[in-house]
This record gives sequence, structure tokens and C-alpha cells, in this order.
Amino acid sequence: MHLDRIQASGLHHKVTTVEKALDFFRDNDIVASSGFTKAGDSKIILPALAKRNQVNPIQITLLTGASLGHDTDAKLTNAGILKRRMPFQVDKVLRAAINSGDVIFVDQNLSETSELLTDRQLPDIDIAIIEAAYITANGEIVPTTSVGNSPIFAQRAKKVIVELNTAITTDVYGLHDVYIPAPYPERKAIDIYNPNDRIGSKTISIDLEKIVAIVFSNKQDSPADIAIIDTKTAAIANHLIAFFNNEVAQGRLTKSLRPLQAGIGKVANAVLAGLAQSDFENLTMFSEVLQDSAFDLIDSGKLTFASAASITVSTTCYDRVFKHLKKYKDKIVLRPQSISNSAEVIRRLGIIGINTAIEFDIYGNVNSSHIGGTHMMNGIGGSGDFARNAHMSIFVTQAASKENRISHVLPMVSHVDHNEHNVDIVVTDIGYADLRGLAPRERAPLIIENCVHPDYKEELRAYFERAVKEVGGQTPHLLAEAFSWHTRFRETGSMKREN
Ligand code: COA
Repeated sequence: MHLDRIQASGLHHKVTTVEKALDFFRDNDIVASSGFTKAGDSKIILPALAKRNQVNPIQITLLTGASLGHDTDAKLTNAGILKRRMPFQVDKVLRAAINSGDVIFVDQNLSETSELLTDRQLPDIDIAIIEAAYITANGEIVPTTSVGNSPIFAQRAKKVIVELNTAITTDVYGLHDVYIPAPYPERKAIDIYNPNDRIGSKTISIDLEKIVAIVFSNKQDSPADIAIIDTKTAAIANHLIAFFNNEVAQGRLTKSLRPLQAGIGKVANAVLAGLAQSDFENLTMFSEVLQDSAFDLIDSGKLTFASAASITVSTTCYDRVFKHLKKYKDKIVLRPQSISNSAEVIRRLGIIGINTAIEFDIYGNVNSSHIGGTHMMNGIGGSGDFARNAHMSIFVTQAASKENRISHVLPMVSHVDHNEHNVDIVVTDIGYADLRGLAPRERAPLIIENCVHPDYKEELRAYFERAVKEVGGQTPHLLAEAFSWHTRFRETGSMKREN
């Protein structure tokens, strides 16, 4: 046993077995777990709870920071323990259960959960599980590879179980900056003016009376799936870099750009990788997740500082980061998602937000979360927090996919996560459309000419022209046809019209 990881010796008697810790869970509990995009999640209690459900079935509401690793969401779903889940997920099994209606999924902006908890707009948490590297002499929790919602979970939970993960070096102390905005009306400004500003403490404070159990684990985070950069994602990255170069040439940006946010998905990773080959310099990030590409940019000397809520990297990158943690420690900070995704801070820092769209339409409305307008993919995640408040809100996607049977630019999106008012630039592998200052009737021709796959251009052009002629309005649409591409795809497996 690693009792040295519990410096507050008064807590040693709380160390227990996983089985005994499970006794604290009751049917209908609201359970919260640390974990943000697979990083710093519960690695033994939640999987053990799923297993126990075969003999002792209960149902719970589960809140996390974002997605969990180690197929934990799949295990929980298969065990039938999940009644409600929020605020984000990326798991295939859970996705199917959400779409069949077996699990209720509350798809929230990632900054929102902590707000609702702070003000008691959500009920208190019955039991929170928080992964920690160690507990300090004062009984404070040193988080691991994410901060996510853990500080607010610790504050609003009636009981807390700490998972002490001995696979994580205790050198992570100092990597985190924990600050919880006060409830209203005592709320103060969040004093961050640069991505590297620190405003909080290095640890999560917790009422020691609440800690009901401490268990040990020894397991690394699930590795991130690193998508190989292909010709399409490389083309998107090149168009975006051309756009940035033009902004620099026009004197609107410098070679350091503005602090960058890059969402999840293969395209965002390719864009950041593309920046390593560019002549931009002294870049900074104020984002949610640090992927491999962020560390590559740090190593190449292009990125001077990165702020996020988690580190989610491949196994090789993980080994590199933790082997050379000292080197990276003054170049990164991990914050709660209420701060990494804070509207106030995003607006003040003038962030360039780069997120992936499932589809966008000829007017610049973006769908990030629903396939065909009905079926959940992952969730809105942090894309809404950034899109609404960023200095420049950029959405990227491939023009067409699945042997071009799907066009990702459409007459009308089947679900709106980000409306045209919050979308500044759209980019596909065909090109980019700069929508700033343009009205819908100006946006459509630009998007159609610059971003649409050749197989779909003519039909989209004809749609817009007929909509202008036959209906008119500020945002011309042929409502009876607006979703015909989606219905055609559902019926025939292709959005293409048969000639
Ligand atoms: N119709 C049918 N299927 C579609 C589709 C459409 N219009 N658009 C996408 N799909 C399918 C793809 O074919 C793919 O299916 P597959 O896995 O069977 O091949 C799947 O949806 C995912 O598409 P892909 O292009 O591989 O996704 P990605 O890895 O680039 O991620 C998002 C794209 C939008 C799903 C992802 O970025 C996301 O979840 N975003 C929301 C959260 C977010 O933006 N967070 C940002 C802050 S971290």
C-alpha cells in the first residue's frame, strides 16, 4: 500500500477495498466522477460498480467532466446501471442506448454543468469519485491528468470516494490551477488576461468529513485515438493556414495569431499539426484538451504556453510528457472546465476557436452533434462555449465523405448547435468561406463556390437560386426540400439525386 500518497495521516483509516467502497452506492443515486476526454477518470470504482450490477442491480444518474476512458461508459451501459448521463460521451455502446431511448442523455455545454451545480439548479450529488495523484498533509486533493468538473463535484457531493492512482507521478503537483467561481450574487471577475495566468490553488479543497473511502488504483489513462492525417484533413489544414496568412497580411492578426482552441476529432488534430510546418511563432493555446499535436508544437518551439482542462494523448506521447514533466510543467496548466470554457475568459482573451462540424448549411448554421437530425453522435461538448464567445469562430469538416455519398454542406442543417450568428469562417478540403460581416444572401454563394464538393455544387446552386426566386426573404429556403438530402440519404444511403 502506498500510504505515503496520503500525507494527511488522519485519513489513513479511510483506505478500504473496492468491494467495501461499493457499499456506499444506492439505487437512484446521483453519482459524479472525475474524468475529461478519457483523462483522470475513475478507473476501478465505476467498472467495479458495473460488474456488481449483475448481482446487485441499481440505477444511477452519472455526471462527469466529459467522456470516460477504458470503455467504462460501455461497461456501465451493458450492465444497465445508467438511467441518466450528462454532459458528454463518445462511446459507441452508450450512443446506441441513448439513441434507442434506454439511457436519457443530457447534452450540455461543458461550462454549464458546474454553473447548474454551483447555484443548486441541479440536485446535490450523492456520491463523487475523484481520481487523485495524492492527498496533501492538509487533506487536499492533487488531481491527475484532468481537472474537469472535479472541484465542483467535491464541493457539491455528500460523500466522496478518492481513487489514488499510483500510476501517476506525484510530480503532477503544480500542474493544476483550481478556481471555483462563487455563487451569485458574490460572483467576481475571473482574473485571467493571458493563457498562463494562474488565479487559484494547486489542489482541490474538500471537507474531510465527506471522504468515506480511499482506494488505490494503478492504471494509466486510456490512450487517445490518434487519427492519421490524410489528404483531406491536410487540405483543410492548408486552407486554414492560408486564411491565417491572409489575416496576418491584412494586419488583423500577428504571426502569434490569438490563443487557439482546438476541438476534438481528426481535423482539429491535423490543423494543429499543420501549424508546426508553418511560419507562425510564439503561439499559445486556451483550449479544453491537449492532444499530441499540442506537445509536438511545444517541442517544435512554436507553442509557448497551453491551458486546458485535460491531457489526452497517445501512449507514446503520454510516456514522453510524463518522462519530461519538468520540461513541460511551466508551459502547461490544467483548469476546471468552468474556467477553460468560461464565456468571460474566452471573450477577453480573443480566442480563435477551431471546432469540427458534422455538417453546415449554405448560411453557416452548424450541426456538431446529431446524425441526420435525430441521432446523437457525441454531444455539443465545448464547441458552443467557444463558438459563441470566440474572437473568431471557425468550423471545419470534409466537404463529402463515404465515397462522396454524404455531403457535409447542405441546404439546411438537420440540427442546429451553432447558428449563423456565431459562425465566422467555415473550411472544408475544397476551400474556406469567410462569412464575417456577410448577410445570408451573401453567405450562400460564397459557401457554395468555396466549400462544396463538386458532386453537390450544381444542385446546391440550383436550390439557392430557386429559393431566392420562388420564396425570397432574408434567408431564402424551399422548406419542402430543405431536408430532402437527409431523407434521400436515409432512404437510399446516398445524398446524391439519381439522374
Ligand atoms: N450523415 C451520416 N453520418 C455522418 C454524417 C452525416 N451527415 N456526418 C458524419 N457522419 C458519421 C461519419 O461517417 C462517421 O461515421 P463512422 O465512424 O461510421 O465512419 C462519424 O459520423 C464521425 O465522423 P468523423 O468525420 O469521423 O468525425 P470526427 O472524428 O472528425 O469528429 C465530430 C467530428 C463533429 C463528431 C466531433 O468533432 C464532435 O463530437 N464534436 C462535438 C464536440 C466538440 O466539438 N467539442 C469541441 C470542444 S472539445
